[in-house]
Amino acid sequence: MSATAAWIAAARARESARPDALFRDPFAAALAGPRGASVLARAEAASGGENPFLPVRTRHFDDVLLQAMHAAGVRQVVLLGAGFDARAFRLTLPEGATVFEIDRPEVPADDVPPRCGRRPVAAGLTACWQPALQEAGFDPTAPAVWVAEGPLDYLSEPSVGTLLRDAASLSAPGSHILADVFGTGHRRMPATRSSAFARMIRRACSRPRAGRRPA
Ligand SMILES: C[S@@+](CC[C@H](N)C(=O)[O-])C[C@H]1O[C@@H](n2cnc3c(N)ncnc32)[C@H](O)[C@@H]1O
Repeated sequence: MSATAAWIAAARARESARPDALFRDPFAAALAGPRGASVLARAEAASGGENPFLPVRTRHFDDVLLQAMHAAGVRQVVLLGAGFDARAFRLTLPEGATVFEIDRPEVPADDVPPRCGRRPVAAGLTACWQPALQEAGFDPTAPAVWVAEGPLDYLSEPSVGTLLRDAASLSAPGSHILADVFGTGHRRMPATRSSAFARMIRRACSRPRAGRRPA
């Protein structure tokens, strides 16, 4: 699993340990491991400190996802670039809910029973991932909540457009998409260009099929 996935899991672990946590992810610390803690420390050293955006993003996505599923009757969730997202394990989703987790091949948290149907889908987001999603049981005639928490930052602008159009083409009426998008300006900042951390991120972006040119 990628260093970036471990990094974000480490941020969720830290938030979960706070007495006034925005959410509790009891799996995040184990999933992040020492590697995640190390990448988080390097990210914060490179960027000037803790990024409060990360826990706020997770809490906001949790709230909108739960509202769509409990109040609006959606039963499918697709995590684009799932990483160590543990929503299938930590959220109370309605009966019949299925969480599809698209990422490069990996096996997170498999020894813990999920709280809903959980279908890992090993596929690249810049490849042709739609057949794999449908083979895993995704129903394009039923609404879904699509979640792109973080991965768009690792894709080129054309790849982001293609990904969102492809998701839209599989979205029945009543579907939602949750995504966060950074501008490209932060990639040009000296702190994010020059550090060892920045080199690690560039490697994550330039893996085969990652769809993003190294900066
Ligand atoms: C910053 S992590 C976020 C993970 C997760 N959404 C979360 O919030 O914890 C980005 C994830 O996107 C995945 N990713 C990036 N580019 C990808 C690609 N081209 N195909 C599939 N997954 C990709 C990485 O493997 C990583 O797990």
